[in-house]
Amino acid sequence: MTDTLTVVPDLTDPRFFDPAPPHAAWAELRRRPGLHYQERADAPGFWSATRYRDLDAVFRDTSGFSCESGMTLDSALGTRDPAAGKMIEISDPPAHTRLRRLLSGGLNKSMARTMDGALRSLITGWVEQAVQADACDFVAAVSARLPAAATGLLLGLPEREWDKLADRASRAISGSLTMDDPRAGDLTARRASTTTANGQLLMHLAGLLDHAELAPEGLIRRLLDAEFDGDRLTRDEVLLNCLNLAVAGNETTKNATAGGLIAFAEHPDQWQLLRSNPELLDSAVEEVLRWVTPTQHFIRTVLEPRVVGGTALEPGDLLCLWITSANRDEEVFADPYRFRIDRNPNPHYSFTSGKHFCLGAPLARLEIRLVFEALLARVERIELLGPPERRATTLINSFVSLPVALHAS
Ligand code: HEM
Repeated sequence: MTDTLTVVPDLTDPRFFDPAPPHAAWAELRRRPGLHYQERADAPGFWSATRYRDLDAVFRDTSGFSCESGMTLDSALGTRDPAAGKMIEISDPPAHTRLRRLLSGGLNKSMARTMDGALRSLITGWVEQAVQADACDFVAAVSARLPAAATGLLLGLPEREWDKLADRASRAISGSLTMDDPRAGDLTARRASTTTANGQLLMHLAGLLDHAELAPEGLIRRLLDAEFDGDRLTRDEVLLNCLNLAVAGNETTKNATAGGLIAFAEHPDQWQLLRSNPELLDSAVEEVLRWVTPTQHFIRTVLEPRVVGGTALEPGDLLCLWITSANRDEEVFADPYRFRIDRNPNPHYSFTSGKHFCLGAPLARLEIRLVFEALLARVERIELLGPPERRATTLINSFVSLPVALHAS
């Protein structure tokens, strides 16, 4: 890591996140006193928090900070989100408390366990095909299919809907522009592409809500019927929260597995360590989550005056919380720039903390573990055949394609 950086790049411009996130800038910001402020020409300016302890204080403080005015740099434009109070991720208490209670029954560890068998057999088949081919695009062969199948099974959708829904969910959050697109740095172009995909996803899901083939044990049916102490979700709330689940569960696990594969290819000693010690698999999954940090930032809007990292914040201020930076914080992680599958302890921040802690964490951990378990059974060496193609976003560490050869053991 360089110690000499003096100018922090434009943290809203995805091109500074290619080929890798701006780790040197964040390392410098963690050392500097206070928080960093950046103006924006076409949107309100924002503060950046980069230290683990500052992020932890903010994510746990729901009276001081709100999710309801946009959760990402590209969407936080100083106005309240129309879905605030109805969609779990962009709701503050008490609306959030109610939605979390009604949704959490469908997303717990026992639900993840019931999906284990179906996912395992699909993943084993995809990995086998990828190994049989001399070369493959790992994103298309495995990573993108994983959340498509997991979300499809979770929501109880007919299989023919899985891929189209997943592609829309992926574009709804990461957009359709790649890093080499001349419009990658243009907020208006990025917003146009996510807004279009969001609208298509909403229409697609609305059409599925009454689908005759919905599985009775799937989440859509269960949410339409769910009741807790006489309370139930309205139809609009079911729709918005299924959209939230489709989006939250998509680019995250997809990019955890693609980014994890790159990490193992670039650290062959760690792949061999895992092959000789498969009992390290759960610990390897946690290190993949820390190393890749699929969701790189979230935004909060200040509700009450607060001091964070030595900087006084006023109501209405926007604060960007850089999760990738917290995951490299040398105050918390020894040797943070080393990929170590036996890291212990590993309190990575990829699922954040507090009331919005990732509701899909058990499912996410299961999905990632099943992919690397299937690879362990068949692959001796992972070879990168070229650079990955990446989407133009500062929100997601997002891969579009990843050419590899998986050499069988
Ligand atoms: C590697 C995979 C994943 C990562 C890194 C991840 C990351 C996150 C993060 C950082 C948050 C917290 C947002 C905040 O504090 O404001 C979150 C919330 C959430 N995640 Fe995940 N997620 C993953 C997979 C999933 C999956 C598979 C699902 C479900 C299908 C899911 C559903 C949710 C939901 C519903 C929330 C909102 C919880 C709330 O607001 O109370 N996530 N996720």
